[in-house]
Amino acid sequence: MSDAGATLRVVVSSRADAGVALRPTRAEIDLDALAHNLGVVRALVAEDRPAPPRVYAVVKADAYGHGVIPVARALESAGVDGLCVALVEEGIELRAAGVSLPILVMSGLYGEGLGAALDARLTPVIHDASQLQALRAARSYLPVRVHLKVDTGMGRLGVTPAALPPFLDAIASMGHVVVEGLMTHFANADCDDPSFTATQLARFEAARALCAHHGILPGVCHAAASAAAFRMPEARLDLVRVGVALYGVTPFLHDAPGLLPVMRLRTEVIALRELPPGSPVGYGGAWRTGRTSVIATLPVGYADGFFRRLSSDAEVLIQGQRCRVVGNVSMDMTTVDVTDLARRSGVAVGDEAVLLGSQRGPGGFDVIRAEEIARRVGTIPYEVLTAVSRRVPRSYRERSPDR
Ligand SMILES: Cc1ncc(COP(=O)(O)O)c(C=O)c1O
Repeated sequence: MSDAGATLRVVVSSRADAGVALRPTRAEIDLDALAHNLGVVRALVAEDRPAPPRVYAVVKADAYGHGVIPVARALESAGVDGLCVALVEEGIELRAAGVSLPILVMSGLYGEGLGAALDARLTPVIHDASQLQALRAARSYLPVRVHLKVDTGMGRLGVTPAALPPFLDAIASMGHVVVEGLMTHFANADCDDPSFTATQLARFEAARALCAHHGILPGVCHAAASAAAFRMPEARLDLVRVGVALYGVTPFLHDAPGLLPVMRLRTEVIALRELPPGSPVGYGGAWRTGRTSVIATLPVGYADGFFRRLSSDAEVLIQGQRCRVVGNVSMDMTTVDVTDLARRSGVAVGDEAVLLGSQRGPGGFDVIRAEEIARRVGTIPYEVLTAVSRRVPRSYRERSPDR
């Protein structure tokens, strides 16, 4: 998101609580862009619906690397209906920070997980017969409110259709358990062929009918993550669980209009050198200058989440211009060929370099999206965002309330 015209303030610098942050490498998190993306999702899922589905934000894995507490607070202010996490520990962290939204724990309940979840007023997802014993023993929490997950084709987590009848018998016999929600997860809603997602949805409807047959009437049925929420209106049901789209990433190959990137990974040039033709650069001398070249060194490396796979195969923005990463990315440093820029307008130590996100400069405006980095690395944007490591301080920007 462009900073132009907005009064911005840094509201938190997470991880800086662990010490001072001297290195200029930062992940800047634009909380206005996050709220904007929530608005985009809300408007989209409300289309043609008298009663729009609830929107739950998926904030597992430290809000996909964006920093869970500031992100959750911003989403709470922006009116999100609830949050989804993967771990009980993640839910407890949110409660400790004072977040009072409903929180769904989507994955396993390890060890004493059920009691810990209920103590923290989290809603556990029940997905396996091995959890029934703990559920039976949890009478003191009366009523125990859970969501039930069915496996409609992901083959990962959830009660399978074949196992569902005895499972529902067992649940129905527990008077203290309230099945508030019924859920499933789609395996490939992001691909162009919707047929398997439609099959999963049909299996989900059959599971819902089976629940009713056992006297179990979940008030909230949900299946869609970002991709299905965007492209499959019939899968939106009562609630959508949206993660990656909130962080401004397109959930499938085509454009999801209007989403703004939330994370901007930036650093500054810390050294410059002019090298004659044929000079090796970086570990292994894997790249050599082909001409007299100006090489800029950036204090960011694979230990920060800038993948080594990007060696000699990525671009960064300096002065709004794309400059090529050359040589091997090392643990703490990355080298960039700034020869053309240096000839045109000069490059100085202290110039900002953007590895992810947008930059406006005398050379123009450009943006490097997580999707682009993912393509180069051969991964998905989720991994690009969650790879930004703990040693990169996050700073949070939002419009001043006094604007
Ligand atoms: C069960 C479940 N629901 C929803 C999501 C959110 O997916 P997305 O980030 O694609 O919206 C995830 C993410 O992995 C998930 O595991």
